[in-house]
Amino acid sequence: MQENNHPIGIFDSGYGGLTILKSIVDQLPQYDYIYLGDNARTPYGSRSFDVVYEYTRQAVMKLFSMGCQLVILACNTASAKALRSIQQNDLPGFDPSRRVLGVIRPSVEKIPLFTKTGHVGILGTMGTVISDSYPLEIAKISGNQITVTQEACPMWVPLVENEEISNPAADYFVQKNINNLFRKDADIDTVILGCTHYPLLLPTILKYLPSHVTLIDQGPIVANSLEDYLLRHPEIEQNCSKGSSIRFLTTESDEIFKSRAGMYFGRPISAEKISL
Ligand code: DGL
Repeated sequence: MQENNHPIGIFDSGYGGLTILKSIVDQLPQYDYIYLGDNARTPYGSRSFDVVYEYTRQAVMKLFSMGCQLVILACNTASAKALRSIQQNDLPGFDPSRRVLGVIRPSVEKIPLFTKTGHVGILGTMGTVISDSYPLEIAKISGNQITVTQEACPMWVPLVENEEISNPAADYFVQKNINNLFRKDADIDTVILGCTHYPLLLPTILKYLPSHVTLIDQGPIVANSLEDYLLRHPEIEQNCSKGSSIRFLTTESDEIFKSRAGMYFGRPISAEKISL
């Protein structure tokens, strides 16, 4: 990576955003990237609005200080609880030419392509569900044409973070939450995995999801949306350096990150420890 370069920043509370980074890098390998996982303070899903906003703001400022002109919050919880505040409160005073984008809007925009019944289910963290960001964003694009039902899955992130995805406990909680969702609305035909950790539970999720249901996995959708965004905003695109490098940062031990992150990213990676 060259000095004075402008990588695209990708932020998550922990490892989950690596599933998004993987799709982005597969689709847009030409850019430089910095991934930042706030592993020391994960999970964000059960934290208050103010805490998620403050932690996310610190991470974004760190990525800006490292040259990022564009930061993607590859975390639904941070997108739900911090994105709007950062865009409205922090960017104008700091540098209005920088951009921070989230993962909720791109995921929601695809919904009308998939649902036939007009009934959509959201699986997410408690924080994402309580924020009502998905129902609000879906209402913006569809009026009130789409019925949205949410199910908070507070055990799923800890199962993934603790590498317990093959434990029978994972089957228990995945089945329980999926059954709850369909008990609330049996007409759901489209489900969004509204947490970047959840693709790690995909085999278990597919075991319990009714087979006629379309599952929306955010990685490819966010990657497509970023490509489209960069095409529509050449002034931002020109500012993104193109050296095909990826740098990984963690707020926890770099050794722990190295031993776990490969599972999410699909290949071994090493990281540097930083503080926020
Ligand atoms: N990966 C985050 C998300 O997409 C959740 C993890 C957490 O609770 O910190 O919502």
